Amino acid sequence: MADILENKKILLVIGGGIAAYKCLDLIRRLKERGVGIQAILTKGGEQFVTPLAVSSLTENKVYQDLFSLTDEAEMGHIRLSRENDLILVAPATADLMAKMAMGIADNLATATLLAANKQIMIAPTMNSQMWGNPATQANLKTLKERGMIEVPPADGELACGEEGTGRLAEVPDIIAQIEAFFLSSEDLPLSGKHILVTAGPTHENIDPVRYIANHSSGKQGYEIARALYLRGADVTLVSGPTNLKTPDGVRRVNVTSAREMMAESENALPVNAAICVAAVADWHIKNPSDQKLKKNKTGTPALDFSENPDILKTISNQADHRPKLVVGFAAESENVVDYAREKLDRKGCDWIVANDISGDVMGGDHNQVHLITNDGAEDWPHMAKAAVADKLADKITEYFED
Ligand code: CTP
Repeated sequence: MADILENKKILLVIGGGIAAYKCLDLIRRLKERGVGIQAILTKGGEQFVTPLAVSSLTENKVYQDLFSLTDEAEMGHIRLSRENDLILVAPATADLMAKMAMGIADNLATATLLAANKQIMIAPTMNSQMWGNPATQANLKTLKERGMIEVPPADGELACGEEGTGRLAEVPDIIAQIEAFFLSSEDLPLSGKHILVTAGPTHENIDPVRYIANHSSGKQGYEIARALYLRGADVTLVSGPTNLKTPDGVRRVNVTSAREMMAESENALPVNAAICVAAVADWHIKNPSDQKLKKNKTGTPALDFSENPDILKTISNQADHRPKLVVGFAAESENVVDYAREKLDRKGCDWIVANDISGDVMGGDHNQVHLITNDGAEDWPHMAKAAVADKLADKITEYFED
């Protein structure tokens, strides 16, 4: 699938904040994704980044003057908005926000913003007192009520040495918002499809401090959730404990035990597809202790196990809400394809993604899988988990297009 950002055109308005230097990295990252960028550099912005740096990275002319003879002969402030798909103001200073809220058009940036007929996105940055000032907050409210998208500032140490809210959002967070904007305005192949993904390990308590877990990192499931979201799906990610960041745009429901994962997965139904990637514990401790087991008092504890619900099997055999497509994973250390085929029949799902976990798959960044369906088995090459996710998401897209 083509990158959602490829061939998109963005007009970047660089305001006068110390964080303007981050724009250079932002431009590079966007260019790598195939975005065409035109930039307006305000007088303030020019104090922090040079026109030459901006034009070298955008590979375009930088616009600075409202009354430039050449640009205004072409009505630069009108044309710049018409030629682009999105206008991003980063950094958006308190002054720029105030002028935008008031409709002031005293320079090229503000005149272009006033004349804009495209979505405007602002990434504010300023001292935390300026940010918290009722004037700024009122301006922000006005701008948002008028439909502007905010990439909120982050907390932390500010350039002025004070702590607080006011740091420019990090480049990946700005890019995520840009992606979300283009995704929401495009008709994507999985738009309107609700997909459930389970991911990560489960933890089964022994006592208040100890639990049984497994080596699953959750990476493969999170990558699948992201790949499906990027194709337009409405994704619910029911996740066991992981250290991973929630993929942008994905609804994440945190659970700890297999029984909680079962309950939250059923809660998410009805869905069009369910992808069970979680490494669910097969058993839980029958009577976990309320108190910490003491070595001297308990001796070596004998743990009594009960079987956990099988989420994949339960969803595959749903009477009322069986998703059209149910996909399971099979982590195997031997006879990978044969065991997976047997698992497909036993669980009643439609596809099984079988992986050989004899290498560094659990916790690693790569995976080698086989896709088993009723039509046969495909052997996929050894690839990054993100690439496995993309290929699987493409298969799911094809399935729903048929
Ligand atoms: N699975 C599940 N609920 C469980 C156990 C497994 O949803 N209680 C799902 C996993 O998410 C995965 C698939 O079933 O999609 C296979 O998991 P796996 O642990 O390989 O299978 P098991 O049923 O545990 O079979 P075995 O012990 O024979 O390997």
